[in-house]
Amino acid sequence: MMPGMPEGMRVLRTRDEIVARVTALGAEIERDYAGREPVLVSVLKGGIVFLADLFRGINLPASIDFMSISRYEESAESTGVVRILKDLDHDIVGRDVIVVEDIIDTGLTLSYLLGALRQREPASLEVCTLLDKAVRRIAPLDIRYVGFDCPDVFAVGYGLDASERFRNLPFIVAVERSVVENAPDLLLPLLTP
Ligand code: IMP
Ligand code: MG
Repeated sequence: MMPGMPEGMRVLRTRDEIVARVTALGAEIERDYAGREPVLVSVLKGGIVFLADLFRGINLPASIDFMSISRYEESAESTGVVRILKDLDHDIVGRDVIVVEDIIDTGLTLSYLLGALRQREPASLEVCTLLDKAVRRIAPLDIRYVGFDCPDVFAVGYGLDASERFRNLPFIVAVERSVVENAPDLLLPLLTP
């Protein structure tokens, strides 16, 4: 499936594990929202790979919409306050909204966003995340759908980036933070088919 893992890396979730889990999540959402028309909201860009696969597994008249935010790097760690760079295209008042995330870490960003979305009075508001780094949680969150629990590692692939690269890996690797920061090119062999 892939060449030898470079040092400081290990596979966290294989492509097969991801496919199986995402399919199961889609089926679960399909059951829970039967008779309704949920809108899946993704925060660019990390969640889009997961969203694309999840969405195709939900056989309901569902729609998708996107937001883009900028995190004030330092302060985001402490407050989660973000600036909305691109808002949703459509109103969510009275809609069944599912926020689809790649990974929830401290939860600060998402907690702030959920507050902003709740003010728009959706009929319901739930969260679906591929990875849940629960050990890092600062802002308590009620997450309805979780793909996989994630240890306190830096995860890359399947939408998750290391400085904007490697989102297109079909699997997820756990990478030492020092590798990501000092020698991110060590991940390049992973892109080899
Ligand atoms: P937080 O939950 O507010 O701390 O921030 C979550 C966001 O940080 C995610 O949506 C990702 O964009 C980013 N992030 C957190 N942990 C990781 C990781 O392990 N790999 C890649 N991005 C991450
Ligand atoms: Mg994100």
